[in-house]
Amino acid sequence: MGTWQSNEEQVYNAVLAALKAGYRHIDTAACYGNEKPIGDAIKASGIPRNELFITTKLWSTDHTRVALGIAESLKKLDTDYVDLYLMHWPVPLNPNGNHALFPKLADGSRDILQTWDFVKTYNLMQSLVENKQARAIGVSNFTVKNLKTLLEAPTTKIKPVANQVEMHPYLPQPKLLEFCRQNEILIQSYSPLGSTDSPLLEDDVVVKIAGKYGVAPATILTSWAIWRGTVVLPKSVTPTRIESNFKTVKLEDVDGEELNQLHKIRGVLRLVSPDWAPFVVFDSNE
Ligand code: A2P
Repeated sequence: MGTWQSNEEQVYNAVLAALKAGYRHIDTAACYGNEKPIGDAIKASGIPRNELFITTKLWSTDHTRVALGIAESLKKLDTDYVDLYLMHWPVPLNPNGNHALFPKLADGSRDILQTWDFVKTYNLMQSLVENKQARAIGVSNFTVKNLKTLLEAPTTKIKPVANQVEMHPYLPQPKLLEFCRQNEILIQSYSPLGSTDSPLLEDDVVVKIAGKYGVAPATILTSWAIWRGTVVLPKSVTPTRIESNFKTVKLEDVDGEELNQLHKIRGVLRLVSPDWAPFVVFDSNE
Protein backbone atom coordinates (compact mmCIF):
# COMPACT_ATOMS: atom_id res chain seq x y z
CA MET A 1 0.00 0.00 0.00
CA GLY A 2 1.24 3.45 -0.87
CA THR A 3 0.96 6.21 1.72
CA TRP A 4 1.92 9.43 -0.09
CA GLN A 5 -0.54 12.20 0.87
CA SER A 6 -1.97 10.08 3.69
CA ASN A 7 -1.78 12.45 6.64
CA GLU A 8 -0.83 11.46 10.19
CA GLU A 9 -4.39 10.96 11.42
CA GLN A 10 -5.53 9.02 8.36
CA VAL A 11 -2.54 6.79 7.90
CA TYR A 12 -2.73 5.02 11.26
CA ASN A 13 -6.18 3.63 10.50
CA ALA A 14 -5.31 3.06 6.84
CA VAL A 15 -2.34 0.86 7.75
CA LEU A 16 -4.38 -1.06 10.31
CA ALA A 17 -7.11 -1.62 7.70
CA ALA A 18 -4.53 -2.69 5.12
CA LEU A 19 -2.84 -5.18 7.43
CA LYS A 20 -6.23 -6.59 8.37
CA ALA A 21 -7.11 -6.97 4.68
CA GLY A 22 -3.90 -8.91 4.06
CA TYR A 23 -1.42 -6.33 2.77
CA ARG A 24 2.11 -6.95 4.02
CA HIS A 25 4.04 -4.35 2.04
CA ILE A 26 3.78 -0.75 3.28
CA ASP A 27 5.53 1.99 1.34
CA THR A 28 6.39 5.31 2.95
CA ALA A 29 9.09 8.00 2.82
CA ALA A 30 10.78 10.37 5.25
CA CYS A 31 9.32 13.25 3.25
CA TYR A 32 5.72 12.05 3.64
CA GLY A 33 5.87 12.95 7.34
CA ASN A 34 3.88 9.85 8.32
CA GLU A 35 6.48 7.27 9.38
CA LYS A 36 5.63 7.62 13.08
CA PRO A 37 1.90 6.72 12.82
CA ILE A 38 2.81 3.94 10.38
CA GLY A 39 5.22 2.51 12.94
CA ASP A 40 2.54 2.85 15.63
CA ALA A 41 -0.06 1.04 13.48
CA ILE A 42 2.36 -1.76 12.68
CA LYS A 43 3.05 -2.24 16.39
CA ALA A 44 -0.67 -2.13 17.21
CA SER A 45 -1.45 -4.75 14.56
CA GLY A 46 0.58 -7.36 16.45
CA ILE A 47 1.87 -8.80 13.17
CA PRO A 48 5.45 -10.05 13.59
CA ARG A 49 8.00 -7.74 11.98
CA ASN A 50 9.47 -10.53 9.85
CA GLU A 51 6.11 -11.02 8.10
CA LEU A 52 6.11 -7.41 6.90
CA PHE A 53 7.88 -5.61 4.09
CA ILE A 54 8.52 -1.97 4.95
CA THR A 55 9.94 0.49 2.46
CA THR A 56 10.99 4.03 3.21
CA LYS A 57 12.99 6.63 1.30
CA LEU A 58 15.93 8.93 1.81
CA TRP A 59 14.94 12.57 1.38
CA SER A 60 17.00 14.85 -0.87
CA THR A 61 18.31 17.08 1.96
CA ASP A 62 19.85 13.94 3.50
CA HIS A 63 21.90 12.81 0.48
CA THR A 64 25.16 13.78 2.19
CA ARG A 65 24.10 12.35 5.57
CA VAL A 66 22.50 9.02 4.78
CA ALA A 67 23.28 7.56 8.22
CA LEU A 68 21.26 10.32 9.85
CA GLY A 69 18.40 9.97 7.35
CA ILE A 70 17.90 6.27 7.96
CA ALA A 71 18.41 6.58 11.73
CA GLU A 72 15.53 9.06 11.92
CA SER A 73 13.29 6.87 9.76
CA LEU A 74 14.03 3.72 11.78
CA LYS A 75 13.29 5.58 15.00
CA LYS A 76 9.94 6.81 13.73
CA LEU A 77 9.02 3.45 12.25
CA ASP A 78 10.13 1.84 15.53
CA THR A 79 12.08 -0.90 13.81
CA ASP A 80 15.73 -1.99 13.55
CA TYR A 81 15.69 -2.30 9.77
CA VAL A 82 13.70 -1.57 6.66
CA ASP A 83 13.20 -4.19 3.99
CA LEU A 84 13.90 -1.66 1.26
CA TYR A 85 15.51 1.78 1.40
CA LEU A 86 15.17 3.95 -1.70
CA MET A 87 16.79 7.16 -2.80
CA HIS A 88 13.63 9.22 -3.25
CA TRP A 89 14.93 11.50 -6.06
CA PRO A 90 18.26 11.63 -7.89
CA VAL A 91 18.76 15.26 -6.82
CA PRO A 92 20.68 16.30 -3.68
CA LEU A 93 19.34 19.41 -1.94
CA ASN A 94 21.23 21.73 0.40
CA PRO A 95 21.00 20.28 3.93
CA ASN A 96 21.69 23.76 5.39
CA GLY A 97 19.25 25.71 3.25
CA ASN A 98 16.25 27.84 4.16
CA HIS A 99 13.85 24.90 4.57
CA ALA A 100 14.32 21.42 6.04
CA LEU A 101 12.70 19.61 3.10
CA PHE A 102 12.40 22.05 0.20
CA PRO A 103 15.18 24.65 0.45
CA LYS A 104 15.10 27.35 -2.18
CA LEU A 105 17.49 29.98 -3.49
CA ALA A 106 16.65 33.67 -3.49
CA ASP A 107 15.34 33.43 -7.08
CA GLY A 108 12.80 30.78 -6.01
CA SER A 109 14.55 27.81 -7.63
CA ARG A 110 15.39 24.67 -5.68
CA ASP A 111 18.59 24.89 -3.65
CA ILE A 112 20.41 21.99 -5.31
CA LEU A 113 23.70 20.87 -3.82
CA GLN A 114 26.17 21.39 -6.66
CA THR A 115 29.09 19.66 -4.92
CA TRP A 116 27.36 16.28 -4.65
CA ASP A 117 25.67 13.72 -6.92
CA PHE A 118 23.48 10.62 -6.65
CA VAL A 119 26.42 8.24 -7.24
CA LYS A 120 27.99 9.50 -4.01
CA THR A 121 24.66 9.20 -2.21
CA TYR A 122 24.20 5.62 -3.38
CA ASN A 123 27.74 4.79 -2.30
CA LEU A 124 26.79 5.86 1.25
CA MET A 125 23.55 3.86 1.04
CA GLN A 126 25.48 0.66 0.36
CA SER A 127 26.86 0.66 3.91
CA LEU A 128 23.27 0.35 5.20
CA VAL A 129 23.09 -3.14 3.72
CA GLU A 130 26.38 -4.05 5.35
CA ASN A 131 25.28 -2.76 8.76
CA LYS A 132 21.86 -4.42 8.30
CA GLN A 133 19.75 -1.26 8.62
CA ALA A 134 18.36 -2.00 5.16
CA ARG A 135 17.79 -5.46 3.75
CA ALA A 136 17.96 -4.02 0.25
CA ILE A 137 18.53 -0.66 -1.41
CA GLY A 138 17.27 0.94 -4.57
CA VAL A 139 16.22 4.16 -6.22
CA SER A 140 13.13 6.08 -7.18
CA ASN A 141 12.34 8.45 -10.05
CA PHE A 142 15.38 7.29 -12.04
CA THR A 143 15.51 7.40 -15.83
CA VAL A 144 17.44 4.90 -17.97
CA LYS A 145 20.20 7.51 -18.32
CA ASN A 146 20.55 7.99 -14.57
CA LEU A 147 20.35 4.24 -13.95
CA LYS A 148 23.16 3.68 -16.45
CA THR A 149 25.29 6.33 -14.72
CA LEU A 150 24.69 4.61 -11.40
CA LEU A 151 25.26 1.07 -12.66
CA GLU A 152 28.47 2.03 -14.46
CA ALA A 153 29.98 3.95 -11.52
CA PRO A 154 33.02 2.16 -10.05
CA THR A 155 31.72 2.74 -6.52
CA THR A 156 28.45 0.89 -7.21
CA LYS A 157 28.97 -2.61 -5.80
CA ILE A 158 25.40 -3.49 -4.80
CA LYS A 159 22.92 -3.33 -7.65
CA PRO A 160 19.75 -1.33 -6.90
CA VAL A 161 17.01 -3.94 -6.54
CA ALA A 162 14.18 -1.58 -7.44
CA ASN A 163 13.29 1.64 -9.20
CA GLN A 164 10.04 3.11 -7.92
CA VAL A 165 8.42 5.35 -10.53
CA GLU A 166 5.04 6.74 -11.51
CA MET A 167 3.47 4.11 -13.74
CA HIS A 168 -0.07 3.68 -15.04
CA PRO A 169 -1.66 3.29 -18.50
CA TYR A 170 -1.23 7.01 -19.30
CA LEU A 171 2.48 6.71 -18.45
CA PRO A 172 3.53 3.14 -19.32
CA GLN A 173 7.23 3.91 -20.03
CA PRO A 174 7.96 0.73 -21.99
CA LYS A 175 11.64 1.57 -22.56
CA LEU A 176 12.29 2.13 -18.87
CA LEU A 177 10.40 -1.06 -18.02
CA GLU A 178 12.43 -3.08 -20.54
CA PHE A 179 15.75 -1.62 -19.40
CA CYS A 180 14.93 -2.48 -15.79
CA ARG A 181 13.82 -5.97 -16.79
CA GLN A 182 17.10 -6.61 -18.61
CA ASN A 183 19.07 -5.38 -15.62
CA GLU A 184 16.97 -7.27 -13.07
CA ILE A 185 15.79 -4.08 -11.40
CA LEU A 186 12.21 -4.41 -10.23
CA ILE A 187 9.87 -1.58 -11.17
CA GLN A 188 7.55 -0.47 -8.40
CA SER A 189 4.57 1.46 -9.76
CA TYR A 190 3.52 4.48 -7.73
CA SER A 191 0.32 6.43 -8.37
CA PRO A 192 -0.94 3.32 -10.21
CA LEU A 193 -4.53 4.58 -10.04
CA GLY A 194 -3.58 7.99 -11.43
CA SER A 195 -3.36 9.73 -8.02
CA THR A 196 -5.91 12.22 -6.64
CA ASP A 197 -9.06 12.78 -8.77
CA SER A 198 -7.75 10.32 -11.29
CA PRO A 199 -9.01 10.56 -14.88
CA LEU A 200 -7.99 6.91 -15.34
CA LEU A 201 -10.74 5.58 -13.09
CA GLU A 202 -13.31 7.08 -15.48
CA ASP A 203 -11.53 6.20 -18.70
CA ASP A 204 -13.96 4.40 -21.06
CA VAL A 205 -11.47 1.64 -21.85
CA VAL A 206 -10.65 1.00 -18.19
CA VAL A 207 -14.35 1.03 -17.30
CA LYS A 208 -15.12 -1.34 -20.21
CA ILE A 209 -12.46 -3.84 -19.12
CA ALA A 210 -13.65 -3.54 -15.49
CA GLY A 211 -17.13 -4.48 -16.71
CA LYS A 212 -15.78 -7.55 -18.49
CA TYR A 213 -14.22 -8.88 -15.26
CA GLY A 214 -16.99 -7.57 -13.00
CA VAL A 215 -14.56 -5.57 -10.84
CA ALA A 216 -13.87 -1.91 -10.01
CA PRO A 217 -11.77 0.19 -12.43
CA ALA A 218 -9.09 0.48 -9.72
CA THR A 219 -8.75 -3.31 -9.74
CA ILE A 220 -8.05 -3.27 -13.46
CA LEU A 221 -5.27 -0.72 -12.96
CA THR A 222 -3.57 -2.69 -10.19
CA SER A 223 -4.03 -5.92 -12.16
CA TRP A 224 -2.46 -4.34 -15.25
CA ALA A 225 0.58 -3.30 -13.18
CA ILE A 226 0.95 -6.91 -12.01
CA TRP A 227 0.34 -8.28 -15.52
CA ARG A 228 3.37 -6.21 -16.60
CA GLY A 229 5.53 -7.72 -13.87
CA THR A 230 5.73 -4.63 -11.66
CA VAL A 231 5.10 -4.18 -7.96
CA VAL A 232 2.00 -2.06 -7.47
CA LEU A 233 1.49 0.43 -4.64
CA PRO A 234 -2.11 1.71 -4.61
CA LYS A 235 -2.73 4.44 -2.06
CA SER A 236 -5.95 4.88 -0.14
CA VAL A 237 -7.07 6.05 3.28
CA THR A 238 -10.58 4.67 2.80
CA PRO A 239 -11.00 1.22 4.42
CA THR A 240 -13.50 -0.07 1.82
CA ARG A 241 -11.16 0.93 -1.02
CA ILE A 242 -8.12 -0.44 0.82
CA GLU A 243 -9.91 -3.77 1.04
CA SER A 244 -11.11 -3.80 -2.55
CA ASN A 245 -7.72 -2.66 -3.92
CA PHE A 246 -6.13 -5.76 -2.40
CA LYS A 247 -8.01 -8.00 -4.80
CA THR A 248 -6.61 -8.34 -8.29
CA VAL A 249 -7.59 -10.33 -11.36
CA LYS A 250 -5.42 -12.13 -13.91
CA LEU A 251 -5.73 -9.98 -17.01
CA GLU A 252 -5.93 -11.60 -20.41
CA ASP A 253 -3.12 -10.47 -22.69
CA VAL A 254 -5.59 -8.78 -25.04
CA ASP A 255 -6.74 -6.49 -22.23
CA GLY A 256 -3.22 -5.82 -20.97
CA GLU A 257 -2.18 -4.88 -24.51
CA GLU A 258 -5.16 -2.57 -24.95
CA LEU A 259 -4.13 -0.75 -21.76
CA ASN A 260 -0.52 -0.66 -22.99
CA GLN A 261 -1.72 1.26 -26.05
CA LEU A 262 -4.12 3.61 -24.26
CA HIS A 263 -1.64 6.51 -23.93
CA LYS A 264 -1.40 6.65 -27.72
CA ILE A 265 -5.06 7.65 -27.90
CA ARG A 266 -5.31 9.74 -24.73
CA GLY A 267 -1.79 11.22 -24.69
CA VAL A 268 0.95 10.70 -22.14
CA LEU A 269 0.16 12.12 -18.72
CA ARG A 270 2.72 12.52 -15.96
CA LEU A 271 0.94 13.48 -12.75
CA VAL A 272 3.87 13.79 -10.37
CA SER A 273 6.39 16.22 -11.79
CA PRO A 274 8.00 18.52 -9.24
CA ASP A 275 10.30 21.22 -10.52
CA TRP A 276 13.92 20.12 -10.08
CA ALA A 277 15.38 22.57 -12.60
CA PRO A 278 18.08 22.84 -13.73
CA PHE A 279 18.45 19.10 -12.97
CA VAL A 280 16.64 16.99 -15.59
CA VAL A 281 14.77 14.24 -13.73
CA PHE A 282 12.50 12.77 -16.40
CA ASP A 283 12.89 11.68 -20.00
CA SER A 284 9.75 11.97 -22.11
CA ASN A 285 11.10 9.39 -24.60
CA GLU A 286 10.84 6.54 -22.12
P1 A2P B 1 -8.56 7.92 -0.90
O1 A2P B 1 -7.15 7.79 -0.35
O2 A2P B 1 -9.26 9.13 -0.37
O3 A2P B 1 -9.34 6.64 -0.72
P2 A2P B 1 -2.80 6.41 -6.42
O4 A2P B 1 -2.67 5.08 -5.77
O5 A2P B 1 -2.68 6.35 -7.91
O6 A2P B 1 -1.88 7.44 -5.82
O7 A2P B 1 -4.29 6.94 -6.19
C1 A2P B 1 -4.70 7.39 -4.94
C2 A2P B 1 -6.00 8.14 -5.10
O8 A2P B 1 -7.02 7.26 -5.58
C3 A2P B 1 -6.48 8.69 -3.78
O9 A2P B 1 -7.12 9.91 -4.04
C4 A2P B 1 -7.47 7.63 -3.30
O10 A2P B 1 -8.46 8.19 -2.48
C5 A2P B 1 -8.06 7.17 -4.61
N1 A2P B 1 -8.48 5.75 -4.58
C6 A2P B 1 -7.84 4.71 -4.02
N2 A2P B 1 -8.47 3.56 -4.25
C7 A2P B 1 -9.56 3.86 -4.97
C8 A2P B 1 -10.63 3.09 -5.50
N3 A2P B 1 -10.69 1.77 -5.33
N4 A2P B 1 -11.59 3.74 -6.20
C9 A2P B 1 -11.53 5.08 -6.38
N5 A2P B 1 -10.55 5.85 -5.90
C10 A2P B 1 -9.57 5.26 -5.20
